[in-house]
Amino acid sequence: MAALRPPRLDAAPDEVARIAAAAPDWATLAATARSCVACPELAAVRQHVVVGDVPASGRPLVAFVGEAPGATEDETGRPFVGRSGALLDQLLAEAGLDRAECAVLNVVKCRPPGNRTPKAPEVARCSGWLHRQIDLLDPPAIVALGLSAAKWFLGPKTVLGRAREHPHPWNGRGLYVTYHPSAAIRFGPNGAPRAALAADLRQVAHLVGKRDLP
Ligand code: URA
Ligand code: SF4
Repeated sequence: MAALRPPRLDAAPDEVARIAAAAPDWATLAATARSCVACPELAAVRQHVVVGDVPASGRPLVAFVGEAPGATEDETGRPFVGRSGALLDQLLAEAGLDRAECAVLNVVKCRPPGNRTPKAPEVARCSGWLHRQIDLLDPPAIVALGLSAAKWFLGPKTVLGRAREHPHPWNGRGLYVTYHPSAAIRFGPNGAPRAALAADLRQVAHLVGKRDLP
């Protein structure tokens, strides 16, 4: 597998999307994205492009989509491996979902400095990668973790508490919205977001046949 010519510095969103769409498989996409420098501010300071985790089979049961890498993800090159990731792993296990059978992705693949929210042009540029990832992985269910991911799928007016109340058909797949693990951490172990996230993950496990009761 050879990488394609990656997006150049300050590449427009449609150029990133064109290159991403030309990747015939996950390995080519990953190798190409790792050299992407479309977002000048992010590319200048990142340590790794965090492309995402996929099961060895290439066919995840569920694709989880977060916002962007944090410090630990930037250091290691893997998604959700810091504090949020530890909580996600714990709640997935409690729900009966094996992370190794899931894809773990982000809207933006490079860490925003100081963990600021990704800027609109960064989201726009990086969108081509995520679209192609979802095409290639073809997951039956997608879970948007937190507001950035929910807005990516459902639009800028999305309200998280509302959006998590029911599934959203999205390009022929079931899209579920829930809280980001960082919100569950922020509000503490007895806070409402943690209980809601845990319940939502149980529901998803039930829907994909990994659990009898939601
Ligand atoms: N938060 C995210 O949204 N994504 C990660 O990969 C880690 C933390
Ligand atoms: Fe490329 Fe996405 Fe990183 Fe921007 S955030 S440089 S589009 S991989």
